[in-house]
Amino acid sequence: MNRRTKFLLLALSITLLLRYGYWVLPKPYSKTKIPRPPGYATSTLNSPSPPKAKEPVQRAAHVFRSDGLLEVNPNGSHPIFTLIKAAEAEWTSKLHRASRTIDQAVEEYTRRYKRLPPKGFDDWWDYVIENNVTLPDEYDSIFHSLEPFWGVHPNDLQQTMAAWEVDKAIYVATIGKEKGGPIHVIRNISGPNGEDKNLKRTLLRFVDSLKPFEDKLPDFRAVISPWDNPGILKDYELTDVAIEAAAGKTYIDLKKLPPPKPGWLSACKPSSPARQNPPSFQAANITDLAPQPKIKTFIRDHHLAMDPCLHPSHLVQVGQYLSGNEGPWPERDLIPSFSMCSTPIHLDILPVPPVGIEEPHHLHQWEEKVDERLLWRGRNTGIWFGGGMHWRSSQRVRLVRTATELSGTIKVLRPPREGEEDVGVGVGEEWSRMVVNPAIMDIHFSDQPLGEDETRELLKEMFTFVEHMSVEDSELYKYVMDVDGNGWSSRFRRLLATNSVVFKSTTYPEWFTERVQPWMHYVPISIDYSDLYDAFVFFRGDINREGNHDELARKIAAAGRSWTEKFWRDEDISAYLFRLFLEYARVMSLDRDAMTYKGTF
Ligand SMILES: *[C@@H]1O[C@H](CO)[C@@H](O)[C@H](O)[C@H]1NC(C)=O
Ligand SMILES: *[C@@H]1O[C@H](CO)[C@@H](O)[C@H](O)[C@H]1NC(C)=O
Ligand SMILES: *[C@@H]1O[C@H](CO)[C@@H](O)[C@H](O)[C@H]1NC(C)=O
Ligand SMILES: *[C@@H]1O[C@H](CO)[C@@H](O)[C@H](O)[C@H]1NC(C)=O
Repeated sequence: MNRRTKFLLLALSITLLLRYGYWVLPKPYSKTKIPRPPGYATSTLNSPSPPKAKEPVQRAAHVFRSDGLLEVNPNGSHPIFTLIKAAEAEWTSKLHRASRTIDQAVEEYTRRYKRLPPKGFDDWWDYVIENNVTLPDEYDSIFHSLEPFWGVHPNDLQQTMAAWEVDKAIYVATIGKEKGGPIHVIRNISGPNGEDKNLKRTLLRFVDSLKPFEDKLPDFRAVISPWDNPGILKDYELTDVAIEAAAGKTYIDLKKLPPPKPGWLSACKPSSPARQNPPSFQAANITDLAPQPKIKTFIRDHHLAMDPCLHPSHLVQVGQYLSGNEGPWPERDLIPSFSMCSTPIHLDILPVPPVGIEEPHHLHQWEEKVDERLLWRGRNTGIWFGGGMHWRSSQRVRLVRTATELSGTIKVLRPPREGEEDVGVGVGEEWSRMVVNPAIMDIHFSDQPLGEDETRELLKEMFTFVEHMSVEDSELYKYVMDVDGNGWSSRFRRLLATNSVVFKSTTYPEWFTERVQPWMHYVPISIDYSDLYDAFVFFRGDINREGNHDELARKIAAAGRSWTEKFWRDEDISAYLFRLFLEYARVMSLDRDAMTYKGTF
């Protein structure tokens, strides 16, 4: 059996496994279920909630799987109609049920998290009201990221943190508030990294972002990594016992911890697809274009779709994971530490990185945008481009290869023409890459290749590196791609703000995950790009624009732009950080009870 066959069999068996436990769209919505926050495989609190189906589905139904994907039924109408409708229903219901008074907010908090909010919640609520912060209940990711620490005695937690500060002194800094004074850098990164201007700037900007509400925060001390990578791999068993202890209001015994296992897979549940069918790390060096799946899928829940425990192939398709081969040993302690980005399998607590808030150069109307190709420009980052590294399989290389390959065909779902909305979508048509790619894709590496000399030569043979494109020119494209680099993509806000449709493929949940709606504000794209052409041509139409849904595209572009103005203002960043640091200060406190809001009850 060759590698490719093994890969195909693996993909097929995972697909089959995942078909059990799915639910189908028209299944009635269970009222007693708490709406699931996107993602978080370790959640014990919430379970997946299918979007409410308002109208009966006329044609055969697509399958809404519990791994965050929609599985296409060829007899059903084009699935993007279903996805947009479901997204709009979910968003409307979120807006509709949002708390309007502090009493409602406390009640909702207690219902979701089974404890009272942190002390200072009333000040936070005042901030929310004064600054028109929307969706004030939707911060489940804060709860999920801090919950394991509730299962550790605060004495132990502080000792763990103190040891980490010393051990990792050349990578992490310490910030905090002491004796009611201003929030400041308590300890800079030591050694040569401490001189790095970018790291310093990130750190100082981050401290500045806490200033608008510093008077309202209690004293705290926090370890923070200003690099663009997460650093603390989760240990599933350890995290699981801690979450269980938290739920039972007890603490784990640090002397009786489950034995560690090495590698990325240690972060996954034993019953998860990744642990059941581990990806072949030997096959990580994909030199062919990825095989096209037999069954088409689209992302319906972006956070779940990012999880490598549910989607093991991410481990061999994303630079973050590929760089570490089978992965590092997980940390033996639950370490409370902030990083600029985190993944579903890292423990790092997620603040708001103080970057990526530029406004567009010129805000063009949709009609003024003349280019209907999908745009991406960027450098070859995401992994180290050197000998022995599996850079061929990393996200940016695969994207550029997919979009510039001229040989062979690609199977694409035919975009429905007017009047064909109810016609079965089928299994896809074979389109010649030589015809399609030059006509609809404008995806290239720019500037000079990065990496070791030998690899850079290889890259120059493989790809055409084009000149840098100005922001002004890029704003004339209707459709833009957003893909991760070494860490999360910090372009998302800028791209959304340009009134273009953003196609986003990422493995990093971000601070706004619960307050943005895929298929309404942007188009989510899978890590393997198997849905990229299907989604793109649904909106732009085929090479002749036949079957385009320009109106729907314009609507998403406008909604994305307007989202940046309502949900990603400085005030929204502050509201998130304010709440996060109130929660953090409480869980780290030696007297958590005294740090709890006792307000209106
Ligand atoms: C689609 O319809 C055909 C013909 O009615 C049927 O044989 C097939 O099983 C259906 N496929 C699915 C996935 O429902
Ligand atoms: C909040 O909304 C109100 C009413 O629309 C407006 O008057 C006020 O200026 C807004 N405040 C902020 C900080 O945006
Ligand atoms: C950390 O570095 C900044 C910038 O160089 C400096 O202003 C500050 O005094 C340093 N803080 C500490 C605690 O060393
Ligand atoms: C990946 O495959 C290429 C082409 O076959 C080969 O030259 C390269 O050495 C391989 N890289 C690794 C890390 O195995």
